[in-house]
Amino acid sequence: MKGIKIIGTGSAVPSKVLTNFDLEKIVDTSDEWIRTRSGIRERHIADKETAASDLAAQAAQKALEDAGVSSKEVGLIIIGTVTPDMSFPSTSCMVQDRIGAKEAVCFDISAGCTGFIYGLEVARGIINNNPSKIALVIGVEILSKITDYTDRSTCVLFGDGAGAAVLKATEERRGILDTHLGADGSLGYLLYMPGGGSRNPLTHEALDNKMHYLKMAGNEVFKSAVRAMEDSAVKILEKVGWSGKEVSLLIPHQANIRIIEATAKRIGLSMERVFVNIDKYGNTSSASIPIALDEARRQGRIKDGDKIVLVAFGAGFTWGAVAIEW
Ligand code: UT7
Repeated sequence: MKGIKIIGTGSAVPSKVLTNFDLEKIVDTSDEWIRTRSGIRERHIADKETAASDLAAQAAQKALEDAGVSSKEVGLIIIGTVTPDMSFPSTSCMVQDRIGAKEAVCFDISAGCTGFIYGLEVARGIINNNPSKIALVIGVEILSKITDYTDRSTCVLFGDGAGAAVLKATEERRGILDTHLGADGSLGYLLYMPGGGSRNPLTHEALDNKMHYLKMAGNEVFKSAVRAMEDSAVKILEKVGWSGKEVSLLIPHQANIRIIEATAKRIGLSMERVFVNIDKYGNTSSASIPIALDEARRQGRIKDGDKIVLVAFGAGFTWGAVAIEW
């Protein structure tokens, strides 16, 4: 084994679309404010019955089809999510059952919007130890179910979706070249959901205090996100010895167009070589990068030999970047 490649991708979003104009009717906001401050025009929202494992299984099946791999060949399923179906069992175990991947070991990762990047690195480590394992790494979120639609500072930002990638050892000297990961738990209080865990179990009182909703100090998170995404992008380029100008496509976490533009500028990359789909999906947390990666491939924006950089920042705080020679 000489490298670890992504050999297939897939994504799935719910069919229902919530536009900025729809939100104007729900909270005191405007299409103009949302577009200019975040870059978002619309997002996809799950119906009452749909949970994370439903979208994750759809994305996984598409990724396996794309890779030409049967679910029976999958040896590992890792899911990054902060909106699992339930606290336990893991959403990855549910997906294993749904897609019939009986040979796979399964677990979820809680790394906020960096969940997919963390998942790639963990899968890379496991495949390095067991080169015969084919891995499914998935990012999935149903953020609409932890969003307070009376809080205009958060409800305009988030959307639902799933993205998946199939990883396999290869004799070629390319694929995932290196990863840079970081975390700072001291700032976790700026982006969190207080209820539902062992600190604030789901009681009537917790519900009355809206503890089952995501809380975010947007402006503080924004500043940390810019810093961490820029630094992470710079560090991964240093690690693999690429200049910013050599990057064929940057696929950043889609939280805010202004954060994306700042990251691209810092590494000297023009926006033509940055993949942006935040206008259509909003912030889908750990799903944003694998959805974008899948769309970029399907739009023909990734070719063999391309130098691809993924970079993310999220709750924890966590951040990370990956360099891939496709
Ligand atoms: O996924 C990883 C983590 N998440 C992120 O990286 C998100 C980071 N944060 C952001 O993207 C931005 O901070 C936001 C888009 C959330 C907000 O943009 P901002 O430029 O930081 O705005 P702000 O929070 O400083 O608010 C500016 C003003 C405030 O009014 P005053 O105090 O200036 O009168 C807010 O009350 O905008 C007001 N505001 C709104 N107005 C209309 C806040 N939300 C809205 C809204 N519509 N939806």
